[in-house]
Amino acid sequence: MSNFFRERVTHVHHWTESLFSFRTSRDQSFRFDSGQFTMLGLEIDGRPLMRAYSLASATYEDELEFFSIKVPDGPLTSRLQHLKDGDQVLIGRKATGTLVHHNLLPGKRLYLLGTGTGLAPFLSVIKDPETYERFETVILVHGCRQVAELAYGEMITEGLPNDEFVGAFVKKQLVYYPTVTREPFVNRGRITDLIASGRLFEDTAQPALDSEHDRIEICGSPEMVKDLRGYFLSLGFEEGSGSKPGHFVVEKAFADA
Ligand code: A2P
Repeated sequence: MSNFFRERVTHVHHWTESLFSFRTSRDQSFRFDSGQFTMLGLEIDGRPLMRAYSLASATYEDELEFFSIKVPDGPLTSRLQHLKDGDQVLIGRKATGTLVHHNLLPGKRLYLLGTGTGLAPFLSVIKDPETYERFETVILVHGCRQVAELAYGEMITEGLPNDEFVGAFVKKQLVYYPTVTREPFVNRGRITDLIASGRLFEDTAQPALDSEHDRIEICGSPEMVKDLRGYFLSLGFEEGSGSKPGHFVVEKAFADA
């Protein structure tokens, strides 16, 4: 187990029957970049049962936060969903992932496109002052089936603008666009359709996409990630990586079991 920190759960919040968040203690030596993920899990019969989880907390926060689905017969999440304050979890010592600033070329606008728990890495990104130093405008789009699944909406619209550390940036530079596909809501439709139709840009008062100025991070359902990746490639956007920064980066949402 030496690859893992043993941390304690400090807070659990259930958003819906299928979504929950929790916070844990953080070892002082654990470092990560906004947008990265690490392994997280439980010790079951003396063995680690781990899945990749994005870090939803800011790099400078004392605790770690995770946003998870609950799969009734999923080996890990069926257990994780019963976490209580004080329970022990295992956390991988090494964070990694592609949704990091240095995989993107400099630009004016940063689009963060996430569905479901694919929002998680972006929660860390929107709390990072460097995000606002690198980009003039940050547009966070969160797509869900139902309104109740739009987790963290209040934190983004009420809490963050008043945050001591990043509030001033958030008020000026962050645009939040939640959208729902399966029930009435102020914004409706799949992220793919909202982009293709131009609706997203009209509603958020942004210019049409342009690879010179727009940078994109994508995280969520594998189908959405695949479709958006294909779409942006077809527009001439280049995918960035650690060895060569580009116009967009992708990560699928993890932990589906
Ligand atoms: P929809 O309700 O039309 O399937 P899921 O819960 O299945 O992970 O989906 C989360 C959100 O992502 C839903 O709003 C869903 O829309 C949307 N979605 C699923 N597949 C795609 C896709 N290929 N492109 C864009 N959005 C998608």
